[in-house]
Amino acid sequence: MQTRLRAGARQPMSRLDRCLNIADLRAYARTQLPWGLFDYIDRGSDDELALKENRRAFDRIQLRTKVMVPLDKADLSTTLFGKPLKMPYIISPTGIAGMCSYQGELSLARAAATRGIACAVATGSVTPMEQLSAEAGGRLWFQLYMSRERELNYGVARRAHRAGFEALVVTVDSGFNPGGTRENWRRTGFDQPFAFTPRTVLDIACHPGWLARVILRYMRTSGFPRHVNYPEGFQESVLPAKGRTKAPRVLDQSWDDIARLRDVWPGILIVKGILRVEDAIAAVERGADGIVVSNHGGRCMDVAPASIDALPEIAAAVGHRTTVLLDSGVRRGADIVKALALGAKAVMSGRSTLYGVAAAGQAGAEHALKLIENEYRLTMGYVGCPTPADVTADIIAHRPRLTPG
Ligand SMILES: Cc1cc2nc3c(=O)[nH]c(=O)nc-3n(C[C@H](O)[C@H](O)[C@H](O)COP(=O)(O)O)c2cc1C
Repeated sequence: MQTRLRAGARQPMSRLDRCLNIADLRAYARTQLPWGLFDYIDRGSDDELALKENRRAFDRIQLRTKVMVPLDKADLSTTLFGKPLKMPYIISPTGIAGMCSYQGELSLARAAATRGIACAVATGSVTPMEQLSAEAGGRLWFQLYMSRERELNYGVARRAHRAGFEALVVTVDSGFNPGGTRENWRRTGFDQPFAFTPRTVLDIACHPGWLARVILRYMRTSGFPRHVNYPEGFQESVLPAKGRTKAPRVLDQSWDDIARLRDVWPGILIVKGILRVEDAIAAVERGADGIVVSNHGGRCMDVAPASIDALPEIAAAVGHRTTVLLDSGVRRGADIVKALALGAKAVMSGRSTLYGVAAAGQAGAEHALKLIENEYRLTMGYVGCPTPADVTADIIAHRPRLTPG
């Protein structure tokens, strides 16, 4: 009996297993990265008003339970652009996963494929899009920041199509200011471009584990990380180099660019970074198949509203004509249910899985998705919705403000 007990004794829990929610994963990630790199992921613009408001707005929403609803045939998957997703969730594009963990972008894409969801890969990623497509499988979207030379954009779009990406996500909220308004990152030096200062050197020296696991491993294999998905001629290293050619900022982008991309890109076209009805309508009229209601995770205009507060009005205006996705601030499975109730077809999140990948690579990203999926399943049970189609606005106990005052 004693032996059997010993044989059946539980393995000690790993640090990852002890992460019970995204906040725990965030704390774990913090211990794995240089302080400045963690801040680069974690923080927002200026006074971080938009960053904080994203969470406050979600927290203000309460859902009403509905009891005695049979859940034995519950199916929490959805169909997005004609294909299945195991839950209504897509990993948002973030050009930094490859610096948090060796081949972090591949880890994110593989985690998404394993958990049956889609993953958007950022323009600034350091793993070639062809490698991601060949080695990750699953549903992959490519995010494009437009550059001034339009032909370069079309070249990147064609390359993504050849590589098998199903959707092009054009981010429109920050092209004129690609660095964002980023006092916090300028202070730490972990900005774009990275700055070699006594502070950043000390920071990295204090994190030899990260240096060995990530940077030295790149040096031994593919060489120092570069922006390999930028247009040809601009695929610079992530480090600053004298006289290097930077991809030019785009100051003259307009809705005509979306119409033109619609002609060039044969796949699903999504416009990311919409916060007002007129812009949502303009995107639909230029041929977008979907829009992402997003304030860029509080990393662009600091006085922007929370995306979840902007969602109901936009979804009411264009939800019948296009696929509306909600991004920014999602940290819990309950947030998915809130966004569905307010008109989104699915949600996107950047930091949730970034914390996971920074903490423990692919296993960490999968863990983040499992936690969110489990919370989503439980919340759907509490509100008595066996499928996403059953989620309607009447489950909301308190609606978010639509207009000030
Ligand atoms: C570290 C980091 C890098 C990001 N890089 C990009 C990017 O290259 N392109 C883009 O469209 N959005 C980028 N974003 C914004 C995300 O796509 C997404 O809008 C945001 O993370 C959503 O907010 P959340 O992190 O609260 O979920 C980035 C976000 C973070 C946190």
